[in-house]
Amino acid sequence: MKDVKIERKEFYNIVSDILENEHFQELKNERHHGTSRYNHSVRVAIKTYMTARSRGWSYVEITRAALLHDFYTNADLHHCDATKALTKHPKVAARNAKKYFNVSRRVQDMIKTHMYPVTSELPKTKEALLISLIDKQVGTVEMLKYKLIRRPDVPKDVVDIHGNQKQVLYSIIKNDLQME
Ligand SMILES: [Fe+2]
Ligand SMILES: [Fe+2]
Repeated sequence: MKDVKIERKEFYNIVSDILENEHFQELKNERHHGTSRYNHSVRVAIKTYMTARSRGWSYVEITRAALLHDFYTNADLHHCDATKALTKHPKVAARNAKKYFNVSRRVQDMIKTHMYPVTSELPKTKEALLISLIDKQVGTVEMLKYKLIRRPDVPKDVVDIHGNQKQVLYSIIKNDLQME
């Protein structure tokens, strides 16, 4: 049986500086797939971490890239219409990830290509491809769950870093991603 407690603690250690960053926390106020962009990003990061770890890959870099893949606010894209925002936001997220967390070029590339094939640049590595696939999977579940059937998530409370982060992470792992 998997040790969820160890994975939860390890996951948190890998990304805690990002989760606690004031600029990243602004994503709690951004609507995304009927939830918050913060919650969406955490879900993508957890699933990416679990998948990479279970395959024996190096998983620190890919987990951080997954968490940062949508690191932008709507204000960052105020000059874009909805269609343009779809293709533009990966570059903005990569730029913000570099600015606030000084991520490597490899991580920036993982972020930049996560919208493939909406954007034309192919994911360059298996890690980049995995993030792109998981983002679509998580996004589809969120759209069905929170938007199409009109049952809103609870953006501010669900992932409250200063409240009870461990239980929140556990809840997302267990309920949203069906991982035991
Ligand atoms: Fe995205
Ligand atoms: Fe996303």
